[in-house]
Amino acid sequence: MTQHTTATSGLSVRSVSKSFGTGPKAVSVLQDVDLDIDDGEFVAVVGPSGSGKSTLLNAIAGFVTPDRGELLVNGEPVRGPGPSRCVVFQEYAIFPWLTVRRNIDFGTRLRAWKGTRPERARVTDRYLDMMGLTEFADALPKTLSGGMRQRVAIARAYAVDPEILLMDEPFAALDAQTREQMQEALVDINQRERRTVLFVTHQVEEAIFLADRVVVMSARPATVQEVVDVPWGDRRTHEIKTEPEFVRLRRHIETLLRSRR
Ligand SMILES: Nc1ncnc2c1ncn2[C@@H]1O[C@H](COP(=O)(O)OP(=O)(O)OP(=O)(O)O)[C@@H](O)[C@H]1O
Ligand SMILES: [Mg+2]
Repeated sequence: MTQHTTATSGLSVRSVSKSFGTGPKAVSVLQDVDLDIDDGEFVAVVGPSGSGKSTLLNAIAGFVTPDRGELLVNGEPVRGPGPSRCVVFQEYAIFPWLTVRRNIDFGTRLRAWKGTRPERARVTDRYLDMMGLTEFADALPKTLSGGMRQRVAIARAYAVDPEILLMDEPFAALDAQTREQMQEALVDINQRERRTVLFVTHQVEEAIFLADRVVVMSARPATVQEVVDVPWGDRRTHEIKTEPEFVRLRRHIETLLRSRR
């Protein structure tokens, strides 16, 4: 089982608070958020709309500076965006003027590892294959479906080899069937590549399907309401969604979200 103690590996969020605006118009969005994510752990964050999930993710990414508290990645304080953290957004953040292969190759160039061109090409091929993109390698993003474009974004993020992957509702714009395929593709790539992942979603089912732990945030200002352990390990097929334990966890988290403490 995982231990949630380390300050020197993984991600550590310590009493992080953040408000937007000043004076009477100030809105407190995060309030003393504490969260530890171990190296290689997949954590999903769910919470009411507008509660501050994206703000938390953006603070970890270095796009938003907290008012108080501390953010550590492998023991190092976050001082701004950097290659240790890679973000996948709902909108496809891939380069429209580059082919699928070149988009992923861009990721491999950001690696600390500086391979030769042929070495990098082999790495790119591997990610193309893992995300089922090989036959689209030379296509431009605009010719691809939304799901395929998100595959490119995810492949590129893994290709960067960051210490932490941050995903902010990456599947929210996809239809239900594509979304399930993407969940499987993500499980697949992450079981092979095993990164530390923080995944924000509105869908409780998606959170339980993907994550080792689900962090339930309260309404704004967001605090961690409860952290729920998910027991399936690497056994992640869609059949688990109908198992009694899965249904029980889903109900439990949905009740917490409705209670709006
Ligand atoms: N840069 C900003 N300036 C002012 N207010 C902001 C800013 N960013 C976020 N907010 C406010 O902070 C609150 C939390 O926003 P945030 O986007 O983090 O919530 P969320 O949980 O991600 O919401 P959703 O579920 O809709 O994605 C909202 O009320 C939002 O309007
Ligand atoms: Mg959001």
